Amino acid sequence: MKSLKIAAGWLLGTFILLQFVRIDMPPPPKAEPEEEIEAPSEIAAILERSCYDCHSNHTRWPWYSHISPISLEIKSHVKNGRNWLNFSIWKSYDEEKRRKLYKGIARSVEWKMPPADYMLLHKEARLSPKERKALKEWAMSHLEEEKR
Ligand code: HEC
Repeated sequence: MKSLKIAAGWLLGTFILLQFVRIDMPPPPKAEPEEEIEAPSEIAAILERSCYDCHSNHTRWPWYSHISPISLEIKSHVKNGRNWLNFSIWKSYDEEKRRKLYKGIARSVEWKMPPADYMLLHKEARLSPKERKALKEWAMSHLEEEKR
């Protein structure tokens, strides 16, 4: 029993110490409201619901995002996600970057995005096969447009 108590003490101590570990979350890249991506409203709604937490400046931080070590994981996800793709600065991207991202979106919505672990905690972000198809077609339509 005693060793169990000691182990529990260590765990608790470690947990408390972890609260002092912080990742500096850089402020989101400055964005003008007019740099936000424009999309038909049903597409915009899907993006906002399923992608914006990691790919925009409009992250909704849940309460557990402030608790270490979960917070470290979440913040690095958002940082990484924004680096790859930030819908809030979409219009500041050049043609080539947008093309690459449209391609990436078409590919990633098949299964990779939104990430599965995120959807466990965010049921509202789940996409139906129909919504995935709509996103994919929307992204593809931009690729075809530019080919002409
Ligand atoms: C929980 C955070 C999170 C959410 C939500 C999320 N992403 Fe991502 N996304 C990431 C991270 C992190 C990366 C960086 C690369 C990686 O980890 O694969 C990324 C990378 C990407 C990329 C570039 C990489 C590639 O494979 O081409 C695209 C495109 C993308 N996401 C699209 C989306 C779309 C579309 C949605 C919504 C349907 C979405 N993501 C939702 C975290 C997220």
